[in-house]
Amino acid sequence: MKILLTGGCGYVGTVLTEKLLEKGHDVTVVDAMWFGNYLKPQKNLTIIKEDIRNTENILLKGIETIIHLANVANDPCVELDPRLSWEVNTLATMQLIDKAVRLKVKQFIYASSGSVYGVTDEPKVTEELELKPISEYNKTKMVSERVLLSYKDEMIVQCIRPATVCGYSPRMRLDLSVNMLTMQAITKGVITVFGGNQVRPNIHVQDMVDVYLYMLDLGKKAAGVYNAGFENISILDIAKRVTNFIPVKIVVTESNDPRSYRMNSDKLLSTGFKPKKTVDDAIKEIMQAYKDGKIKDEESCYNVKWMKKTVCNSLTSS
Ligand SMILES: NC(=O)c1ccc[n+]([C@@H]2O[C@H](COP(=O)([O-])OP(=O)(O)OC[C@H]3O[C@@H](n4cnc5c(N)ncnc54)[C@H](O)[C@@H]3O)[C@@H](O)[C@H]2O)c1
Repeated sequence: MKILLTGGCGYVGTVLTEKLLEKGHDVTVVDAMWFGNYLKPQKNLTIIKEDIRNTENILLKGIETIIHLANVANDPCVELDPRLSWEVNTLATMQLIDKAVRLKVKQFIYASSGSVYGVTDEPKVTEELELKPISEYNKTKMVSERVLLSYKDEMIVQCIRPATVCGYSPRMRLDLSVNMLTMQAITKGVITVFGGNQVRPNIHVQDMVDVYLYMLDLGKKAAGVYNAGFENISILDIAKRVTNFIPVKIVVTESNDPRSYRMNSDKLLSTGFKPKKTVDDAIKEIMQAYKDGKIKDEESCYNVKWMKKTVCNSLTSS
């Protein structure tokens, strides 16, 4: 299948690109390469360095499916320049699907976020629950979903709400809870947890990628919105899991982060999808990748630090 993947040079996108190619797809990656490019040139892969806001430069002729991951990808990064973030996350998404519909692209898969639910005590956070986004990032995701779903009669639209992703990718992110706490244990010999009681759902990057592949194959049988997160664990318990492998001290300090939610992914599981990996697998992989020199604790692995230093200096909202 001919696939356009935006954000294919990112943490999830790099692993997804490799797997799409393994499955025999023809992949065009469009990415601004804010955090570099770890994809190797190979057959059936075209890599285009481009800002998705320049929709006119994104060629869709012959493309059957768009998988759309390119976004300003967490709360603090969106706060750096909210206007830029609305342009990238929502306006560009709207322009992309509008062009896609006109050029007869059949399927659009979108990386939304589980954080659209906001803070909730609901024991079962299912797709039917009312959204109460509390941050600008969450709002850009919620509004984008609504825009995309308004095209559902014209093409297959699938909005995935991922939990926090964990595990190794060649383009590593160390600002995600499991990855961050593991790296703290490795390099600092101590884990600092803010608050700790906030519960967060998690998904391994390999399972995340498998969800996108699964949605690609299911097509119109799985149109609509799907949660994707399997282990609901408090931040303190994630830290404890890390100490099962790296015995270091955990220091708990006060937190002003109220985000806490459990995600229920029964809808996805009922389609037959089965996750294969766990948070423990992610911790072990990161330890091994660090030992093998494949991961370094460097600034580009922390989105907000890196964007502040590089992207926000060179880009401003138009
Ligand atoms: N990683 C997670 O835990 C998680 C959880 C929920 C949702 N998501 C969503 O999944 C998607 C992928 O996340 P990720 O962790 O791989 O993030 P990432 O930051 O590693 O990757 C995002 C990629 O998009 C590119 N990009 C950003 N703005 C762009 C623009 N204007 N034009 C072209 N390219 C642009 C960046 O260069 C980067 O390569 C994002 O939409 C994110 O919001 C991620």
